[in-house]
Amino acid sequence: MWLSTVASVLALASTALAQINLPGEVPVNKLEPLQHRLAYAGTTGMYVSWNTYAEVKNPTVYYGENVWDLSSTATGISITYSSSLTWSNHVKVTGLKPDTTYYYIVSNTNCYNCSELAPYTFTTARPAGDFTPYTAAIVIDMGVMGPYGSSVKSDYPVLTANDSNTMQSLARYVDGYDLLWHPGDIAYADSWLREQVDGYLNVSIADSYKIYNFLLNQYYDELQPVTSRKPYMVVPGNHESNCDEGGFTVENTTYDLSLCVEGQRNFTGYINHYRMPSEESGGVGNFWYSFDHGMVHYVSINTETDLGNGLIGEDDVNGPEHMDSGPFGSYPNEQIDWLEKDLASVDRTKTPWVIVSGHRPWYAAANNVSNTICWNCKIAFEPLLLKYNVDMVFYGHIHMYERNAPIADGVPDPNELNNPSAPWYILNGLGGHYHGTSQYVEPFPSYVRYIQNTTYGWSKLTFHNCTHLTHEFISSANGSVLDSATLFKDRQCAASIIPSNSSSNATLPSADKNVAGAMHVSSAFLISMSVIVVMSLL
Ligand SMILES: *[C@@H]1O[C@H](CO)[C@@H](O)[C@H](O)[C@H]1NC(C)=O
Ligand SMILES: *[C@@H]1O[C@H](CO)[C@@H](O)[C@H](O)[C@H]1NC(C)=O
Ligand SMILES: *[C@@H]1O[C@H](CO)[C@@H](O)[C@H](O)[C@H]1NC(C)=O
Ligand SMILES: *[C@@H]1O[C@H](CO)[C@@H](O)[C@H](O)[C@H]1NC(C)=O
Ligand SMILES: *[C@@H]1O[C@H](CO)[C@@H](O)[C@H](O)[C@H]1NC(C)=O
Ligand SMILES: *[C@@H]1O[C@H](CO)[C@@H](O)[C@H](O)[C@H]1NC(C)=O
Ligand SMILES: *[C@@H]1O[C@H](CO)[C@@H](O)[C@H](O)[C@H]1NC(C)=O
Ligand SMILES: *[C@@H]1O[C@H](CO)[C@@H](O)[C@H](O)[C@H]1NC(C)=O
Ligand SMILES: *[C@@H]1O[C@H](CO)[C@@H](O)[C@H](O)[C@H]1NC(C)=O
Ligand SMILES: *[C@@H]1O[C@H](CO)[C@@H](O)[C@H](O)[C@H]1NC(C)=O
Ligand SMILES: *[C@@H]1O[C@H](CO)[C@@H](O)[C@H](O)[C@H]1NC(C)=O
Ligand SMILES: [Fe+2]
Repeated sequence: MWLSTVASVLALASTALAQINLPGEVPVNKLEPLQHRLAYAGTTGMYVSWNTYAEVKNPTVYYGENVWDLSSTATGISITYSSSLTWSNHVKVTGLKPDTTYYYIVSNTNCYNCSELAPYTFTTARPAGDFTPYTAAIVIDMGVMGPYGSSVKSDYPVLTANDSNTMQSLARYVDGYDLLWHPGDIAYADSWLREQVDGYLNVSIADSYKIYNFLLNQYYDELQPVTSRKPYMVVPGNHESNCDEGGFTVENTTYDLSLCVEGQRNFTGYINHYRMPSEESGGVGNFWYSFDHGMVHYVSINTETDLGNGLIGEDDVNGPEHMDSGPFGSYPNEQIDWLEKDLASVDRTKTPWVIVSGHRPWYAAANNVSNTICWNCKIAFEPLLLKYNVDMVFYGHIHMYERNAPIADGVPDPNELNNPSAPWYILNGLGGHYHGTSQYVEPFPSYVRYIQNTTYGWSKLTFHNCTHLTHEFISSANGSVLDSATLFKDRQCAASIIPSNSSSNATLPSADKNVAGAMHVSSAFLISMSVIVVMSLL
């Protein structure tokens, strides 16, 4: 009943948006480039990835600093895997100038006169030692938006009519941040089974691998207005592992991993869809790696598997969640050894800020059970984060926002945000997904400073200079700042070691201006998403 309403909304929307594919829809031209995704490849490179419903021979990126001249080219690979509907095309563009904006298009872009079509742009990272202020966006636990995932219907009362969802909010503000970091739980394609149990979807179990793929493709399509323009740096979460979301019972049959066809286990989609700069940083695949942008060294860690020192990760082959995934290191301690080496080699005169991000938390006002609080992650990672004076740690997994104090082994730093020696912890699992938000548990641990679970949002991290950074929680619904705090580190700042070449400004326009500008930056996808969100109240 409800799905047929959605179908007619989709039909209406597609008439209005003739020629433009709806999220997850297979295009007439199977080579049509979709789902453009960027990722930093050092400060002089950029990974450009996109998906097609057919193999691309010799996938090529055409690029240049001048919109009239996209005559530079780079080529890469077109790959697919069992049960995937699409090919992932990956091209590493190298030999670029740092901190420079390039125009680009990819193979088979329907582009009679690209200057008129305004090709996509990307901007390379500022080199380490460039202290120009800027903003990074962070989102965690963000799934498909619209009638197959997070919508007014599924997430009532969290998402209500007229609210923007998190993708819409991120797209609206896309000019206000340099990159989007997403530490895990990307798309929630595995929620199809939960949606089925709840009667939100009605698919045959035999065909379930198709809906899983459909949800993944919807997600990549929906986020393309952001990922085609800003580096989208991903980190693995438990929902990337396989298709069954830990198993459910449907009509008296309990499903488990055996439901997942080949290609929907062991992070296969995650491995195939992204290219993270592990080659550039000595990491492993999309699982652990680091990168620099200006005055910040970013470190992505894997909390799911490969915890080292005999510790069992929740998603490990013998892990409690029966995810049967990993390991990804070539030996058991590879990630931990890499992390130590990476942190030890940071030049704090060039990147005074060191920010670490993984999916699962170890400090949170939540039930003390291992699939919620990752004690093994604490054992694996915290000693190194303390030893190397990491400034800040981000994670999610629990669907709430919790700003904590800087913490060392469970104890809040007495200096709080005024020159602490321990890392500052922020948990933000409010990207938004089909199943709404989580419950927090009271009484709060002594380190909790602000907590909420009533609205979706993302994190805006502004690096002012080498001593001050501000974290803000942005409400996806309307762009307002619901929480803001500034960390001060008492250290000597050199002047920019590398002269700034900033054409952007770290200051965001006001929320009102952004709302007014929304139609300008929204793509057809996002416009169609708004239509769906509002209409689905019917
Ligand atoms: C600075 O940025 C501009 C615009 O992106 C670019 O044309 C120029 O080459 C850059 N300069 C340096 C030194 O990288
Ligand atoms: C492409 O568009 C530009 C700007 O509108 C125009 O000057 C140019 O002549 C066009 N080129 C072709 C081949 O149509
Ligand atoms: C949404 O906006 C419409 C038009 O402004 C208004 O009539 C309606 O009351 C709003 N709904 C909610 C739940 O705020
Ligand atoms: C689900 O789909 C099947 C097959 O199309 C149909 O027989 C059944 O009635 C549907 N169930 C619901 C709850 O819509
Ligand atoms: C599921 O099991 C219950 C209790 O045994 C039974 O009443 C019900 O009919 C079963 N449902 C189906 C769909 O088999
Ligand atoms: C998962 O994939 C990795 C390689 O990507 C492989 O080494 C590992 O054995 C696989 N694990 C399982 C349980 O299949
Ligand atoms: C939570 O559980 C872990 C291990 O299961 C235990 O070591 C720890 O003391 C517990 N913490 C609290 C606050 O109960
Ligand atoms: C937020 O957490 C509180 C405390 O557990 C709970 O009562 C409330 O239902 C949660 N709110 C939502 C929207 O889930
Ligand atoms: C660093 O930025 C903060 C916040 O904008 C400002 O108050 C402070 O004066 C700046 N410090 C230096 C050395 O510029
Ligand atoms: C914006 O949304 C938040 C909830 O996300 C709400 O608390 C706040 O009142 C809203 N502000 C405005 C100006 O509508
Ligand atoms: C940044 O914004 C300030 C204040 O709006 C302005 O004076 C300055 O010129 C801007 N810088 C750049 C590089 O756009
Ligand atoms: Fe998670």
